[in-house]
Amino acid sequence: MNPSSSSKLPLLLKPFLLSLLLSVVFLAFLATQSPLLRLKTALHTTQYPPSNAGIGSSSLRIRRGYTSYNAYIERQLNKTLNPKLRKIWTTRDWHRKIKVFAHFFQSLKQRNLVFNESKALSIGARVGQEVAAMKMVGVSDAVGIDLVPYPPLVMKGDFHAQPFENHTFDFEFSNVFDHALYPWKFVGEIERTLKPGGVCVLQVAVTRRADKYSANDLYSVQPLLELFKESELLEVRKVDAFGLDTEVVFRKKLVENY
Ligand SMILES: *[C@@H]1O[C@H](CO)[C@@H](O)[C@H](O)[C@H]1NC(C)=O
Ligand SMILES: *[C@@H]1O[C@H](CO)[C@@H](O)[C@H](O)[C@H]1NC(C)=O
Ligand SMILES: *[C@@H]1O[C@H](CO)[C@@H](O)[C@H](O)[C@H]1NC(C)=O
Repeated sequence: MNPSSSSKLPLLLKPFLLSLLLSVVFLAFLATQSPLLRLKTALHTTQYPPSNAGIGSSSLRIRRGYTSYNAYIERQLNKTLNPKLRKIWTTRDWHRKIKVFAHFFQSLKQRNLVFNESKALSIGARVGQEVAAMKMVGVSDAVGIDLVPYPPLVMKGDFHAQPFENHTFDFEFSNVFDHALYPWKFVGEIERTLKPGGVCVLQVAVTRRADKYSANDLYSVQPLLELFKESELLEVRKVDAFGLDTEVVFRKKLVENY
Protein backbone atom coordinates (compact mmCIF):
# COMPACT_ATOMS: atom_id res chain seq x y z
CA MET A 1 0.00 0.00 0.00
CA ASN A 2 1.59 3.28 -0.96
CA PRO A 3 1.67 6.25 1.45
CA SER A 4 -0.69 8.41 -0.60
CA SER A 5 -3.48 5.80 -0.53
CA SER A 6 -3.02 5.08 3.19
CA SER A 7 -3.33 8.79 3.98
CA LYS A 8 -6.74 8.64 2.31
CA LEU A 9 -8.05 6.02 4.76
CA PRO A 10 -10.65 7.27 7.22
CA LEU A 11 -9.05 8.27 10.49
CA LEU A 12 -10.75 5.50 12.50
CA LEU A 13 -9.54 2.71 10.24
CA LYS A 14 -5.88 3.13 11.19
CA PRO A 15 -6.17 2.01 14.85
CA PHE A 16 -8.45 -0.80 13.66
CA LEU A 17 -5.86 -2.08 11.18
CA LEU A 18 -3.14 -1.80 13.81
CA SER A 19 -5.10 -3.86 16.35
CA LEU A 20 -5.94 -6.42 13.66
CA LEU A 21 -2.26 -6.78 12.89
CA LEU A 22 -1.41 -7.19 16.59
CA SER A 23 -4.11 -9.85 17.03
CA VAL A 24 -2.78 -11.84 14.11
CA VAL A 25 0.73 -11.73 15.56
CA PHE A 26 -0.60 -12.77 18.96
CA LEU A 27 -2.63 -15.66 17.50
CA ALA A 28 0.36 -16.86 15.55
CA PHE A 29 2.36 -16.81 18.77
CA LEU A 30 -0.36 -18.81 20.58
CA ALA A 31 -0.41 -21.39 17.80
CA THR A 32 3.28 -22.12 18.24
CA GLN A 33 2.57 -22.78 21.93
CA SER A 34 -0.33 -25.18 21.35
CA PRO A 35 0.33 -28.74 22.49
CA LEU A 36 -1.27 -30.14 19.33
CA LEU A 37 1.10 -28.25 17.14
CA ARG A 38 4.06 -29.26 19.27
CA LEU A 39 2.99 -32.91 18.92
CA LYS A 40 2.72 -32.53 15.16
CA THR A 41 6.18 -31.04 15.05
CA ALA A 42 7.57 -33.90 17.10
CA LEU A 43 5.97 -36.51 14.84
CA HIS A 44 7.23 -34.67 11.83
CA THR A 45 10.78 -34.70 13.05
CA THR A 46 10.77 -38.34 14.15
CA GLN A 47 9.09 -39.60 10.98
CA TYR A 48 10.87 -37.28 8.69
CA PRO A 49 14.19 -38.22 7.21
CA PRO A 50 17.52 -36.78 8.11
CA SER A 51 18.40 -34.21 5.44
CA ASN A 52 21.03 -36.49 3.94
CA ALA A 53 18.63 -39.48 3.65
CA GLY A 54 18.38 -39.47 -0.12
CA ILE A 55 14.82 -38.18 0.03
CA GLY A 56 15.76 -34.72 -1.19
CA SER A 57 16.56 -36.17 -4.57
CA SER A 58 13.63 -36.63 -6.90
CA SER A 59 14.75 -40.24 -7.51
CA LEU A 60 12.93 -41.43 -4.41
CA ARG A 61 9.38 -40.32 -3.76
CA ILE A 62 7.24 -41.27 -0.82
CA ARG A 63 3.69 -41.86 -1.94
CA ARG A 64 1.15 -39.54 -0.42
CA GLY A 65 -2.18 -40.62 0.94
CA TYR A 66 -1.21 -42.35 4.17
CA THR A 67 -2.82 -40.27 6.88
CA SER A 68 -1.07 -42.17 9.67
CA TYR A 69 1.30 -45.05 10.28
CA ASN A 70 -1.70 -47.17 11.27
CA ALA A 71 -3.44 -46.45 7.98
CA TYR A 72 -0.28 -47.54 6.19
CA ILE A 73 -0.01 -50.76 8.23
CA GLU A 74 -3.68 -51.51 7.65
CA ARG A 75 -3.24 -51.18 3.92
CA GLN A 76 -0.16 -53.41 3.94
CA LEU A 77 -2.06 -55.98 5.98
CA ASN A 78 -4.83 -55.86 3.42
CA LYS A 79 -2.47 -57.32 0.85
CA THR A 80 -0.64 -59.67 3.19
CA LEU A 81 -3.85 -61.10 4.63
CA ASN A 82 -5.75 -61.31 1.34
CA PRO A 83 -6.94 -64.95 1.40
CA LYS A 84 -6.87 -65.34 -2.39
CA LEU A 85 -3.28 -64.09 -2.61
CA ARG A 86 -2.16 -66.24 0.33
CA LYS A 87 -3.68 -69.30 -1.31
CA ILE A 88 -1.81 -68.59 -4.54
CA TRP A 89 1.47 -67.90 -2.69
CA THR A 90 1.27 -71.19 -0.82
CA THR A 91 0.00 -73.39 -3.65
CA ARG A 92 0.35 -72.48 -7.33
CA ASP A 93 3.30 -70.10 -6.78
CA TRP A 94 5.13 -72.09 -4.12
CA HIS A 95 7.31 -74.53 -6.07
CA ARG A 96 7.74 -72.32 -9.10
CA LYS A 97 9.01 -69.38 -7.02
CA ILE A 98 11.16 -71.47 -4.70
CA LYS A 99 12.90 -72.96 -7.71
CA VAL A 100 13.70 -69.50 -9.10
CA PHE A 101 14.81 -68.20 -5.69
CA ALA A 102 16.94 -71.30 -5.03
CA HIS A 103 18.76 -70.66 -8.28
CA PHE A 104 19.24 -67.04 -7.24
CA PHE A 105 20.62 -67.85 -3.76
CA GLN A 106 22.85 -70.52 -5.28
CA SER A 107 24.35 -67.84 -7.53
CA LEU A 108 24.88 -65.58 -4.49
CA LYS A 109 26.74 -68.45 -2.84
CA GLN A 110 28.95 -68.83 -5.88
CA ARG A 111 29.69 -65.09 -5.64
CA ASN A 112 30.62 -65.56 -1.95
CA LEU A 113 27.84 -63.22 -0.78
CA VAL A 114 26.11 -65.86 1.36
CA PHE A 115 27.37 -69.15 2.82
CA ASN A 116 25.88 -72.30 4.33
CA GLU A 117 26.95 -70.97 7.75
CA SER A 118 25.41 -67.50 7.27
CA LYS A 119 22.70 -66.34 9.62
CA ALA A 120 20.25 -65.04 7.05
CA LEU A 121 17.14 -62.83 7.02
CA SER A 122 14.48 -62.31 4.39
CA ILE A 123 12.65 -58.99 4.90
CA GLY A 124 8.98 -58.80 3.93
CA ALA A 125 8.92 -62.52 3.46
CA ARG A 126 5.14 -63.10 3.12
CA VAL A 127 4.81 -66.90 3.28
CA GLY A 128 8.55 -67.56 3.26
CA GLN A 129 9.32 -68.73 -0.26
CA GLU A 130 12.74 -67.04 -0.14
CA VAL A 131 13.43 -68.57 3.28
CA ALA A 132 12.56 -72.04 2.01
CA ALA A 133 14.81 -71.44 -1.00
CA MET A 134 17.75 -70.39 1.19
CA LYS A 135 17.36 -73.53 3.30
CA MET A 136 17.14 -75.62 0.14
CA VAL A 137 20.55 -74.43 -1.05
CA GLY A 138 22.11 -75.10 2.38
CA VAL A 139 21.71 -71.77 4.22
CA SER A 140 19.98 -73.53 7.09
CA ASP A 141 19.94 -70.68 9.65
CA ALA A 142 17.49 -68.54 7.70
CA VAL A 143 14.32 -66.79 8.81
CA GLY A 144 11.88 -64.23 7.42
CA ILE A 145 9.93 -61.33 8.91
CA ASP A 146 6.60 -59.87 7.85
CA LEU A 147 3.67 -58.13 9.52
CA VAL A 148 1.86 -61.47 9.54
CA PRO A 149 3.86 -64.49 10.73
CA TYR A 150 3.90 -67.76 8.79
CA PRO A 151 5.63 -70.22 11.10
CA PRO A 152 8.11 -71.72 11.08
CA LEU A 153 9.64 -69.82 8.15
CA VAL A 154 8.38 -66.30 8.85
CA MET A 155 8.16 -64.54 12.19
CA LYS A 156 6.20 -61.38 12.96
CA GLY A 157 8.18 -58.20 12.47
CA ASP A 158 7.97 -54.70 10.99
CA PHE A 159 10.92 -53.83 8.78
CA HIS A 160 10.78 -50.26 10.11
CA ALA A 161 11.68 -51.66 13.56
CA GLN A 162 13.22 -55.11 13.16
CA PRO A 163 12.71 -57.39 16.18
CA PHE A 164 16.43 -58.24 16.40
CA GLU A 165 19.49 -57.14 18.31
CA ASN A 166 22.24 -55.14 16.66
CA HIS A 167 24.74 -57.26 14.68
CA THR A 168 22.56 -60.35 14.30
CA PHE A 169 22.83 -61.34 10.62
CA ASP A 170 25.53 -62.15 8.09
CA PHE A 171 23.13 -61.74 5.19
CA GLU A 172 19.86 -59.91 4.53
CA PHE A 173 17.71 -60.03 1.44
CA SER A 174 14.65 -58.03 0.44
CA ASN A 175 12.48 -57.42 -2.57
CA VAL A 176 9.98 -55.16 -0.79
CA PHE A 177 11.89 -51.88 -0.53
CA ASP A 178 9.02 -50.17 -2.36
CA HIS A 179 6.70 -51.03 0.54
CA ALA A 180 8.70 -48.94 3.00
CA LEU A 181 6.93 -45.77 4.11
CA TYR A 182 10.17 -44.62 5.76
CA PRO A 183 12.94 -45.96 3.48
CA TRP A 184 15.65 -44.46 5.71
CA LYS A 185 14.37 -46.58 8.61
CA PHE A 186 14.13 -49.66 6.39
CA VAL A 187 17.81 -49.25 5.50
CA GLY A 188 18.85 -48.09 8.98
CA GLU A 189 17.38 -51.26 10.47
CA ILE A 190 19.25 -53.44 7.96
CA GLU A 191 22.52 -51.71 8.82
CA ARG A 192 21.80 -52.00 12.53
CA THR A 193 21.05 -55.73 12.49
CA LEU A 194 23.78 -56.74 10.03
CA LYS A 195 27.10 -57.78 11.50
CA PRO A 196 30.06 -55.67 10.40
CA GLY A 197 31.07 -57.08 7.01
CA GLY A 198 27.55 -58.50 6.53
CA VAL A 199 25.92 -58.40 3.10
CA CYS A 200 22.56 -56.96 2.01
CA VAL A 201 21.04 -57.80 -1.35
CA LEU A 202 18.05 -55.74 -2.51
CA GLN A 203 15.98 -56.34 -5.60
CA VAL A 204 14.17 -53.14 -6.59
CA ALA A 205 12.23 -51.64 -9.47
CA VAL A 206 13.70 -48.46 -10.94
CA THR A 207 12.27 -48.40 -14.43
CA ARG A 208 8.98 -50.18 -13.80
CA ARG A 209 6.38 -48.98 -11.34
CA ALA A 210 5.65 -51.35 -8.50
CA ASP A 211 2.15 -52.20 -7.28
CA LYS A 212 -0.65 -50.22 -5.70
CA TYR A 213 0.50 -51.28 -2.24
CA SER A 214 3.87 -49.59 -2.70
CA ALA A 215 4.64 -46.70 -0.38
CA ASN A 216 7.54 -45.23 -2.35
CA ASP A 217 8.78 -44.98 -5.91
CA LEU A 218 12.45 -45.27 -6.79
CA TYR A 219 13.72 -43.84 -10.07
CA SER A 220 17.44 -44.64 -9.76
CA VAL A 221 19.76 -46.44 -7.35
CA GLN A 222 21.31 -43.14 -6.21
CA PRO A 223 19.03 -42.73 -3.16
CA LEU A 224 20.04 -46.22 -2.00
CA LEU A 225 23.71 -45.23 -2.13
CA GLU A 226 22.84 -42.28 0.11
CA LEU A 227 20.71 -44.32 2.51
CA PHE A 228 23.28 -47.09 3.05
CA LYS A 229 25.60 -44.83 5.02
CA GLU A 230 27.39 -47.60 6.89
CA SER A 231 28.00 -49.80 3.84
CA GLU A 232 29.95 -49.95 0.64
CA LEU A 233 28.36 -50.72 -2.70
CA LEU A 234 29.51 -54.04 -4.14
CA GLU A 235 27.35 -54.42 -7.24
CA VAL A 236 24.47 -53.04 -9.27
CA ARG A 237 23.06 -55.23 -12.01
CA LYS A 238 20.01 -55.55 -14.18
CA VAL A 239 17.85 -58.54 -13.35
CA ASP A 240 14.43 -59.84 -14.25
CA ALA A 241 13.00 -60.90 -10.92
CA PHE A 242 9.22 -61.07 -10.73
CA GLY A 243 8.71 -57.52 -11.91
CA LEU A 244 11.84 -56.10 -10.26
CA ASP A 245 14.60 -54.96 -12.59
CA THR A 246 17.66 -54.08 -10.52
CA GLU A 247 19.78 -55.88 -7.96
CA VAL A 248 21.91 -53.86 -5.57
CA VAL A 249 24.46 -55.42 -3.22
CA PHE A 250 25.96 -53.68 -0.17
CA ARG A 251 28.49 -54.79 2.39
CA LYS A 252 28.33 -53.21 5.83
CA LYS A 253 31.63 -51.57 6.74
CA LEU A 254 33.78 -53.26 9.36
CA VAL A 255 34.02 -50.05 11.39
CA GLU A 256 30.82 -48.16 12.19
CA ASN A 257 30.71 -44.37 12.27
CA TYR A 258 27.97 -43.85 14.86
C1 LIG B 1 -9.08 -53.53 2.83
O1 LIG B 1 -9.83 -54.35 1.94
C2 LIG B 1 -11.23 -54.25 2.08
C3 LIG B 1 -11.90 -55.23 1.13
O2 LIG B 1 -11.00 -55.99 0.42
C4 LIG B 1 -11.65 -52.81 1.79
O3 LIG B 1 -13.04 -52.69 1.97
C5 LIG B 1 -10.93 -51.88 2.73
O4 LIG B 1 -11.25 -50.54 2.42
C6 LIG B 1 -9.44 -52.07 2.60
N1 LIG B 1 -8.77 -51.24 3.58
C7 LIG B 1 -7.69 -50.52 3.25
C8 LIG B 1 -7.09 -49.72 4.35
O5 LIG B 1 -7.19 -50.51 2.14
C1 LIG C 1 26.19 -76.43 1.75
O1 LIG C 1 24.99 -77.14 1.95
C2 LIG C 1 24.61 -77.89 0.82
C3 LIG C 1 23.20 -78.44 1.06
O2 LIG C 1 23.10 -78.96 2.35
C4 LIG C 1 25.64 -79.00 0.58
O3 LIG C 1 25.28 -79.76 -0.54
C5 LIG C 1 26.97 -78.32 0.31
O4 LIG C 1 27.98 -79.29 0.17
C6 LIG C 1 27.33 -77.36 1.44
N1 LIG C 1 28.46 -76.58 1.01
C7 LIG C 1 29.50 -76.40 1.80
C8 LIG C 1 30.59 -75.56 1.22
O5 LIG C 1 29.58 -76.87 2.91
C1 LIG D 1 22.35 -50.46 18.20
O1 LIG D 1 22.73 -49.71 17.07
C2 LIG D 1 22.23 -48.38 17.05
C3 LIG D 1 22.66 -47.72 15.77
O2 LIG D 1 22.21 -48.40 14.68
C4 LIG D 1 22.74 -47.61 18.24
O3 LIG D 1 22.18 -46.32 18.24
C5 LIG D 1 22.37 -48.35 19.51
O4 LIG D 1 22.95 -47.69 20.60
C6 LIG D 1 22.85 -49.78 19.45
N1 LIG D 1 22.35 -50.50 20.62
C7 LIG D 1 23.13 -51.23 21.38
C8 LIG D 1 22.45 -51.93 22.51
O5 LIG D 1 24.32 -51.34 21.17
